[in-house]
Amino acid sequence: MDELLWREIDEKEPIPAHILERMEEMRKHHKPLIDPAYIKRPTMIEGIRRAGAVNTAVLDEVAKHIRAGMSTQDIDDIVREFTHAQGAICAPYKFEGYPKSVCTSINNEVCHGIPSRLRKLHDGDIINVDCTTILDGYYADASRMFMIGSVSEARRKLVEETKKCLEAGIAAAQPWATVGDIGYATAKYAHSHGYSVVRELGGHGVGLEFHEDPFVAHIGTRGKGMVLVPGMVITIEPMINIGKPGVYIDDYNGWTIYTKDNSDSAQWEHTILITETGNEILTY
Ligand code: MF3
Ligand code: CO
Ligand code: CO
Repeated sequence: MDELLWREIDEKEPIPAHILERMEEMRKHHKPLIDPAYIKRPTMIEGIRRAGAVNTAVLDEVAKHIRAGMSTQDIDDIVREFTHAQGAICAPYKFEGYPKSVCTSINNEVCHGIPSRLRKLHDGDIINVDCTTILDGYYADASRMFMIGSVSEARRKLVEETKKCLEAGIAAAQPWATVGDIGYATAKYAHSHGYSVVRELGGHGVGLEFHEDPFVAHIGTRGKGMVLVPGMVITIEPMINIGKPGVYIDDYNGWTIYTKDNSDSAQWEHTILITETGNEILTY
């Protein structure tokens, strides 16, 4: 996305004065604040919302076809072909050298699993499919878990509780709250159900670029971290492990993250807009 275009929109759609005033008030109290260039204006929000609608349709398409026996490359093919048919593109492809169009992370893989013809889905697997769509230069990012065939009770519970963990994070993402409030809520939910929270990766600002400020940790302290200003668009995407929180990166492909103790991991992700009264999920 060329910087020029959104800087032009910027001038025509200023940040409302009452929001700037409240930001100024918080600045005086030494609260960390986002660069105003990343506070989304109505035209941008409409663009990200449209990217979100395509991203949701892509994940719905995956949901229709995903099944045992299929390879993760088959998922990549579905995502790429469907996305392109909507006039959009897949953000992961060639992002910092990433070789495929989607991330497919199975069982003990935490995230950034790379699709492959050699990796087939088996009955009992749980898999995260993480899609990021670029439409007219705007980004939307979401992921879901899929349960293949009949999965164990422990895996089913992990998948369902991780979704509720994301929902707890979304509920905490209120205007003028902080990123720390989100992390506090997700960690509290996960820990109270006996799970651990991955610390090395997190959510992020999104919309004009793939990964913008702030980093959204899924463990945090209430009231700490960047203020959530109306007009900010962020992802929340907790990675929750059955065992210990430690992870490591694949030595050979440089991307895939696994749990250190080999325990199962789940993740759900939404892109959300902070509004003046709450938030709006842009990837439903
Ligand atoms: N979609 C991931 C996220 O939620 C990022 C994937 S980067 C890739 O932030 F290069 F692996 F695609
Ligand atoms: Co994602
Ligand atoms: Co993301």
